[in-house]
Amino acid sequence: METKILSTSEYDIALAGEIIAKGGLVAFPTETVYGLGADALNENAVKSIYAAKGRPSDNPLIVHICEKEDIVPLVKEVTPKARALMDAFFPGPLTIILPKSDRVGNVVSGGLDTVAVRMPQNDIARRLIRAAGCPVAAPSANTSGLPSPTRAKYVIEDMNGKIDAIIDGGDCEFGVESTVITLAGDVPTILRPGAVTKEMIESVIGKTEVARAVLEGMKNDEVAASPGMKYKHYAPKAQVVIVDAEKEVYENFVNSRENAFALCFEGDNVTVDKVTYGRENDDLSQARELFDALRQLDEMGAKKVYARIPHTTGVGMAVYNRLIRAAAFKIIDLRKPFFIGLTGPTGAGKGYVSSRLAEMGFNILDADKYVKKIYDNNPGILNRLASEFGNDIIINGELDRKKLAQIAFSSKENTKRLNSIVHPEVISLCERDAKPLAVLDAPQLFEAGAADKCYKIISVIADYETRLRRITERDKITQEQAVSRMNAQFDESYYINNSDFVIYNNGEDIDSQIKKIMEEIL
Ligand code: TXA
Ligand code: MG
Repeated sequence: METKILSTSEYDIALAGEIIAKGGLVAFPTETVYGLGADALNENAVKSIYAAKGRPSDNPLIVHICEKEDIVPLVKEVTPKARALMDAFFPGPLTIILPKSDRVGNVVSGGLDTVAVRMPQNDIARRLIRAAGCPVAAPSANTSGLPSPTRAKYVIEDMNGKIDAIIDGGDCEFGVESTVITLAGDVPTILRPGAVTKEMIESVIGKTEVARAVLEGMKNDEVAASPGMKYKHYAPKAQVVIVDAEKEVYENFVNSRENAFALCFEGDNVTVDKVTYGRENDDLSQARELFDALRQLDEMGAKKVYARIPHTTGVGMAVYNRLIRAAAFKIIDLRKPFFIGLTGPTGAGKGYVSSRLAEMGFNILDADKYVKKIYDNNPGILNRLASEFGNDIIINGELDRKKLAQIAFSSKENTKRLNSIVHPEVISLCERDAKPLAVLDAPQLFEAGAADKCYKIISVIADYETRLRRITERDKITQEQAVSRMNAQFDESYYINNSDFVIYNNGEDIDSQIKKIMEEIL
């Protein structure tokens, strides 16, 4: 079939209307995305929409009208809530679902007893519907499963040769499809978020729910409130993963990935290949550019894409809803603790494991070094220590460490007070310097309350005798001193019970244990 590319002239719109009236297919711009239109009351025409898109036949279509009153013959009843929403948002990016009248066939409704109706705002769309002289069934004009087209060139890519005509009306204003709300149940429920937000809807009709599947994946046995929710969607050829993180953490993460592409916001400090989708705090710009960005990534040949997460409020909910489907629900959560904790009792050989991990290329954060750093150049902390333990622990502005140790380790109470000042500072410095999945090497990991900052914890363990020998040799101290130091710590079972992995270090092969654990963690 030869597909005509039409302009928005009176002549071309009239021609397009005629094509639809005769049972043909025309793609046209709306304020949301391009639609693929056919006469909604002509079953055969509607069937050919499903064929052109490769769309499953149980996924119903939206019926587009050009005047508010055109909804009346399509539904059983225009309820008061429907009327209120129409008055507030028609014409505009909102689709309302109501029980259908007998005039609406089963092909359009995908076999359901409801129908989705929308009155677009876009002038070209309205002129076309008027010219066609019938309600126009129109899904987004993409091949099923691909991102919805926001520009005529993407419609041409997907539909050329499969439909009668495409009206080139420039870029779409909103860039994500309409908000879909059902009024067919007890409580109004948003099935698909769009530019008309939950907040805007609630200000008109009060309590409105959001279908669970909007922001999460569907469970295997769940029946879709909207059939469109169960299908793979908006998926580019690349594998997309959403990275849930603040700007800087995201930047560090994506910049450390090889051969990856970033799908980020304008102004993000990204050194790998990137495509942007709008500005950080501007959800409308994100909505407008998202689908275009996904298609660009394909054009650039991206295989793996790390996307920066949008906010989920306002129109951001629509952006997130599309992005999470493009990512097949894959999210890396870097807000959750992302250290790999490495700890163990004194003399077990944690230091050796840490140096092997460093040689294997892991980013190691040595808590002891940070403690030294704090003592050397953090006047705020030194002042707090002085007010806690007395001014004579500071000599000429410098910390007398021996003196501090004497006082601080003289009682459990004092040790606690020292730790409560130093540990939080160490953790926050480590967080500042950490690359994702950095190893936090901390002898006092548990004591410092850092365990819940760790994604996984590895403890290095060795037999009592081995540890005793190592400590006395390493630190040149007596057996007695070594024993008292060992007894001040948690016992071995504590480490084992509170760790995800244990490395045994009595002469066993360390590298193979590390490799196995790291493979599992990564
Ligand atoms: O902005 C839009 O709505 C665009 C433009 C072209 O108007 N159209 C659009 O249509 O996005 P489509 O077919 O790609 O998406 C329609 C969505 C699907 O998720 C479908 O399952 C749902 O609306 N839907 C349609 N009728 C329904 C019904 N009776 N009950 C539940 N969900 C329905
Ligand atoms: Mg669609």
